[in-house]
Amino acid sequence: MTQYAIETYRLRKVYRSLLRRQSVVAVDSLDLKVPTGCVFGFLGPNGAGKTTTIMMLLGNVYPTSGSFRILGHSISDMGVRRRIGFLPEKFQFHELLTAEELLWFHGRLAGMDRQLLTRRVPEVLEQVGLSERARSRVREFSKGMQQRLGIAQAILHDPDLIILDEPTSALDPLGRRDVRDLILQLKSRGKTVFLNSHLLSEVEMVCDEVAILRAGQVQRQGDIEMLLQVHPVVDVELRAPSERVMQAVRTVARVLSENGTRFTAEVQGEEEIPALARCIVEAGGEMMRFAPRRESLEDLFVRVVEEAK
Ligand SMILES: Nc1ncnc2c1ncn2[C@@H]1O[C@H](COP(=O)(O)OP(=O)(O)OP(=O)(O)O)[C@@H](O)[C@H]1O
Ligand SMILES: [Mg+2]
Repeated sequence: MTQYAIETYRLRKVYRSLLRRQSVVAVDSLDLKVPTGCVFGFLGPNGAGKTTTIMMLLGNVYPTSGSFRILGHSISDMGVRRRIGFLPEKFQFHELLTAEELLWFHGRLAGMDRQLLTRRVPEVLEQVGLSERARSRVREFSKGMQQRLGIAQAILHDPDLIILDEPTSALDPLGRRDVRDLILQLKSRGKTVFLNSHLLSEVEMVCDEVAILRAGQVQRQGDIEMLLQVHPVVDVELRAPSERVMQAVRTVARVLSENGTRFTAEVQGEEEIPALARCIVEAGGEMMRFAPRRESLEDLFVRVVEEAK
């Protein structure tokens, strides 16, 4: 087994519009390393280049320059394509097929035989919670049910690498929890899951590593625990709002938000937390609450994206 399920080297994609005579750099010098067996979150604001990257990794979009390897192989290797499962961002299914028929159709296309499909189709429908609707037509499905079916299609052939472009965007909270459990179950079986999502609290719960992309370039990449430990934040509540306290706080920390008697401040490191408490007391602030916590993925995302502007 290779150490990395996905490795990219200075991967770049420039879309050229001949009509408008302009070009868009969608992905720029992308160096990604996705360890085998990990759940990897590929994050970034709208238009950052996530879907373009995924399309290149699948061999659907040709890179302008750079290179990449998937499960240690080139994507032109047919054997490796069979080991990848993919849920597209905008999936469009044959509406007249039933859920079961649709999975059979995709399974046959992926080269699975009848015996295997007879076992796998009910198994994956069960995994995504659609057993009861196996014989319903896709056009009768809600958006969330279609998304579940999309995930079933992505894992049907038991791939080693599962690429999910926005797997939970249409799901209700229970559906999201089911998909989270499913992802963790895939990971426990040694699979690599590469997912792109704007639902950062979901990503924080399920991913081991993340990369944050902006304007086609990686701004941060690494182990999620390490990335979030760098800048702790403290939620503070005062008895009464005080400009004097806030001025003092700004000398030792960065105020992220302020609302009446409450504020949230970010310090440079854990060792700065006592200094923040001291400075509030010295400025005459009466604290009702002082709660240090680690930065959330959303805090980090906002900071990284704004920093890069
Ligand atoms: N087929 C295309 N032709 C021309 N430009 C494109 C094409 N596809 C994407 N782009 C441009 O490339 C950039 C990256 O788009 P992409 O769809 O990869 O972003 P994304 O990170 O997936 O965004 P979102 O979060 O909105 O899905 C954008 O500026 C987009 O307009
Ligand atoms: Mg996209």
